[in-house]
Amino acid sequence: MIAALALAAPAAADPPPLYKAKCELCHSIGGAGGLKKDLGGPLDGVGSKRDEAWLRAYFADPKSKIDGAKMPKLPLSAAEWDEMVAFMLTLKAAP
Ligand code: HEC
Repeated sequence: MIAALALAAPAAADPPPLYKAKCELCHSIGGAGGLKKDLGGPLDGVGSKRDEAWLRAYFADPKSKIDGAKMPKLPLSAAEWDEMVAFMLTLKAAP
């Protein structure tokens, strides 16, 4: 999976296609994002702020982790969530 991710995301500046298709609308990375990027906000550094278990629980049911969460439960496959969790964990805060 790490190898697959490396192929899909050669650099942090070039997020995987799945992120662009399903997530970028409401989020930004490095200031670049979609039409509603201020709704979900920047994901820069989220891989330092959250761990894998938190991310998986949040994606399965956002309200279980954040009261009144506005991020919808998205219909991704298990493999797609694996890819997105792995990608989130590459977004480390700048040292
Ligand atoms: C319809 C808008 C929307 C879409 C699409 C969306 N999000 Fe979100 N996301 C949000 C909002 C709003 C929040 C802020 C917390 C909350 O209200 O749930 C959030 C929060 C997050 C967080 C927590 C950030 C933190 O600082 O803790 C992560 C991680 C995240 N989103 C990842 C994703 C990923 C990965 C995708 C695509 C699979 C995605 N989001 C798609 C709206 C969205």
